[in-house]
Amino acid sequence: MNNRHDASVAVEAVDLVKRFGDFTAVDGVSFAVPTGTVLGMLGPNGAGKTTTVRMMTTLSDPTSGTARINGFDVRENPDAVRRSMGLTGQAATVDELLTGRENMRMIGGLYGIGRKALKERTEQLLHQFSLTDAGDKTVREYSGGMRRRIDLAVSLIAAPPVLFLDEPTTGLDPHSRNELWDVLRGLVAAGTTLVLTTQYLEEADQLADRIVVVDAGKIIAEGTPLELKTQAGAASLITTVTHAADVNAARAILDQVAGDVFVDEHARTLTVPAGGLADLTRVAGMLDESGIAIDDIGLSRPSLDDVFLSLTGHRAEPGSESASDSEGASA
Ligand SMILES: Nc1ncnc2c1ncn2[C@@H]1O[C@H](COP(=O)(O)OP(=O)(O)O)[C@@H](O)[C@H]1O
Ligand SMILES: [Mg+2]
Repeated sequence: MNNRHDASVAVEAVDLVKRFGDFTAVDGVSFAVPTGTVLGMLGPNGAGKTTTVRMMTTLSDPTSGTARINGFDVRENPDAVRRSMGLTGQAATVDELLTGRENMRMIGGLYGIGRKALKERTEQLLHQFSLTDAGDKTVREYSGGMRRRIDLAVSLIAAPPVLFLDEPTTGLDPHSRNELWDVLRGLVAAGTTLVLTTQYLEEADQLADRIVVVDAGKIIAEGTPLELKTQAGAASLITTVTHAADVNAARAILDQVAGDVFVDEHARTLTVPAGGLADLTRVAGMLDESGIAIDDIGLSRPSLDDVFLSLTGHRAEPGSESASDSEGASA
């Protein structure tokens, strides 16, 4: 059989399926994550992200298919899988009544890390996550951002080569989110392989080397952030004319560049598909020659939001994340 593990692949999902009764929550998900890279699983609430992560981290048995972490199969060798990875989930792993340091000591003890090594590792992680000063406060007193950071620090105590992060920044303010992104970039720079789920298109864009877009249990697209954006369509050239009276004249000029002019009369903007900077300078020149004043002209790439819309026909709904976040309650 194919027991030999290819060390360049840290994580593999192989046709994972999960049914709850008649309902198929995960419907044949496969991907491979090269060692030291970040895979973003991007999808709206209910897409099947948490269920996939739970199967890949031995918390839930696949209905069919399997996953391998560092070559260890979740079905055949769940203990080795658990030793190879860390998980920070939507369900909290830390004890609120203990301090940050006490949580680290407790989890490190469970992993059988020796006293001295554990103390060193704890201080190193608290420092790395800017929690040194807060280390002796109970976690109950932590802010949302500190809370996520101690979650992450605790899951790193055993220095796992693979880390699963289930919506790590959901509910965080932009500042805390940026801080956490920096921490995650640091982990990746140090060689950790990350699998990250998110409903935030920007988060996948910021962190992931490759993205799988999931919807209703299936992967509906995959690629680098740039590939996905390119797939959603070419860049647009957006021109804002200064005077509403010039909109029609500008439309006639843009018609010569590309036959497909979209006009927003109210905003005085005209949008055409564009190849690149050459189109921008050409249009700017033509408008200038015609004496049409412009407020603004620029190229716009489709956002991952546009990608999601063009792939699924609906927008991701980051506002409704709390609805099914209770899956960890029965663990
Ligand atoms: N234990 C369960 N029993 C029944 N349905 C479930 C269970 N866990 C999840 N689901 C359903 O599976 C679908 C995918 O859920 P989930 O994996 O939590 O999605 P996501 O993490 O992408 O928001 C949802 O429709 C959810 O209601
Ligand atoms: Mg989830």
